[in-house]
Amino acid sequence: MRALLPFDATSTTDSDSTATGSQTPASNEANRLQIGFWLTPTPGQGEVLVKVHATALNRADLMQMRGQYPPPRGASPVPGLECSGIIESLGPGVEGWQPGDRVMALLAGGGQAEWVAVPQGQLMPIPDRLDFAHAAALPEVAITAWTNLVAEGELRSGQTVLITAAASGVGSFAVQLARALGARVLVAGRHLGRLERLKPLGADACLLLDDSLPEAAKAANNGQGVDLVLELAGGQGLAQRLGALRHGGRLVLVGLLAGSRAEIDLGLLLRQRLRLIGSVLRARSLAEKTALVEDFWSFAAAPLAAGKLKPIIHDVRPFDDIAEAYADMAAGGVLGKLVLTL
Ligand SMILES: NC(=O)c1ccc[n+]([C@@H]2O[C@H](COP(=O)([O-])OP(=O)(O)OC[C@H]3O[C@@H](n4cnc5c(N)ncnc54)[C@H](OP(=O)(O)O)[C@@H]3O)[C@@H](O)[C@H]2O)c1
Repeated sequence: MRALLPFDATSTTDSDSTATGSQTPASNEANRLQIGFWLTPTPGQGEVLVKVHATALNRADLMQMRGQYPPPRGASPVPGLECSGIIESLGPGVEGWQPGDRVMALLAGGGQAEWVAVPQGQLMPIPDRLDFAHAAALPEVAITAWTNLVAEGELRSGQTVLITAAASGVGSFAVQLARALGARVLVAGRHLGRLERLKPLGADACLLLDDSLPEAAKAANNGQGVDLVLELAGGQGLAQRLGALRHGGRLVLVGLLAGSRAEIDLGLLLRQRLRLIGSVLRARSLAEKTALVEDFWSFAAAPLAAGKLKPIIHDVRPFDDIAEAYADMAAGGVLGKLVLTL
């Protein structure tokens, strides 16, 4: 099958192909990208084989390309954390899914390819109103947002959440999900102009990620600290975000866009009885992911079907343009997801 080759792969492996793949240079990093031929997966116990119609890029793909985020043990080395498509065949022990079903899938890897094997617990049916491109843009951001707002962050109706790097794919879905949960939503980032575009999705106030953040967050929340920070930026600014929390507030650390080092006042954590929670999705067990997908779906199926929750797409491109898409994500200025169609 055609696939974006693993970033350290140097040769093709599909026995029925003589093709050598194509290389499309677009930037220093992206010119390492190569579409070529890779073994078509066989669905194992409890898995289905999906014919991929669309897939999407994630910041984690860039980190994997830089050697900073290797796939978990047993996962495909082909990049790609989400896709949409049609079930082609069922492995042993699959129940409730049929060949021909339109599905979207959360993946530990392998989505940037023509075919992918998916554990049945990581599948969701595609709502009628979504095409394959929009469906491919949903699983990773949606399950990340659900995991960290709800399972880890314990966000409740009537509470206030502050989302940093909110114009990201994860952030732009988390804004909608938090609003759908009944929360008040403050968004923070480096460019107020870009954040303004999140207001129609449910953002109540847009704040700059700078030293004014703790006071600005309180001013936007009736003088109170926020209940929860969904932290997608990390780095030295973490101290600001801790300062924006109320007594007993939680900060769920999900992304390290601004770096993995921070100096924080531990006394503040003690005095304010704050909780600082680190969270990753990809390395969780199949049982955990299955439970998260089920919980998300039981909440989100209806608002997705009604268009009240929707994936935010920056652009849709042909799979052959994947190197340019990676280069654009690395360059920044993207709001929402970059989607590739096959
Ligand atoms: N822990 C997990 O399980 C998990 C799962 C999924 C994603 N993530 C993480 O969540 C984050 C978002 O992922 P994504 O795929 O949604 O990203 P993305 O769509 O590529 O978005 C990148 C966003 O980050 C902002 N940004 C870039 N560098 C920044 C910096 N130094 N400081 C502040 N903001 C910065 C950009 O905003 P401006 O350029 O407009 O400022 C842009 O809005 C990433 O850190 C990713 O690794 C974690």
